[in-house]
Amino acid sequence: MDTLEALLGRSSASRLSEPAPQGLVRERIFRSALRAPDHARLRPWRFLVVEGEGRDRLGDALARAMQRRDGAVDEPTLQKLRVNPLRAPLLLLPVADVREHPKVPLLEQQMSVACAAQCILLAAHAEGFGGIWRSGSIAYSAELHAELGLADSEQLLGFLYLGTPVAASARPVADPDPKQHFRPWPPLPLT
Ligand SMILES: Cc1cc2nc3c(=O)[nH]c(=O)nc-3n(C[C@H](O)[C@H](O)[C@H](O)COP(=O)(O)O)c2cc1C
Repeated sequence: MDTLEALLGRSSASRLSEPAPQGLVRERIFRSALRAPDHARLRPWRFLVVEGEGRDRLGDALARAMQRRDGAVDEPTLQKLRVNPLRAPLLLLPVADVREHPKVPLLEQQMSVACAAQCILLAAHAEGFGGIWRSGSIAYSAELHAELGLADSEQLLGFLYLGTPVAASARPVADPDPKQHFRPWPPLPLT
């Protein structure tokens, strides 16, 4: 698949099954993230790799974090959280490790990590796999950060679910009109 084909053809897959990318393919996907634009080469990222039974542990951590944050949470809600990570064989959790820098605002560092996450989704697609970026308010909570062992300087940017798309779940790729989103500036005078 060439680059533009991958860029224009990627869409999120909400239902993902085995297999996940493995071996050299997985390594290429990981490497693609590390080529994201990164002001001052701060490498403001790390990625937690969760698979196998680790997904159950993550589910438990999500449920504990919600209980700690919200107090009384009904059991069906907690159970849904516990099984959420089982929706794909592989999860990558992008973590932004941001720090004060004289030239690189925190927002730029977060944007670099978001670019890295998109590189992962695109590379996975180019390699014939599928993925979806998910979040939920618990992702941004101090309670989950503690469960995951994040440092004070670190922020979780969500969950990248990766695997093999289940054909029935493939969503049609929207084809928005660039003219709706790209306009000349300064605006052209009306004639
Ligand atoms: C930071 C971030 C968090 C997201 N969180 C969710 C989520 O929790 N649930 C969801 O269904 N989609 C979420 N999305 C959107 C999907 O990843 C996806 O982009 C969207 O469904 C549009 O599909 P497409 O990528 O095929 O255009 C999130 C996207 C981003 C960038």
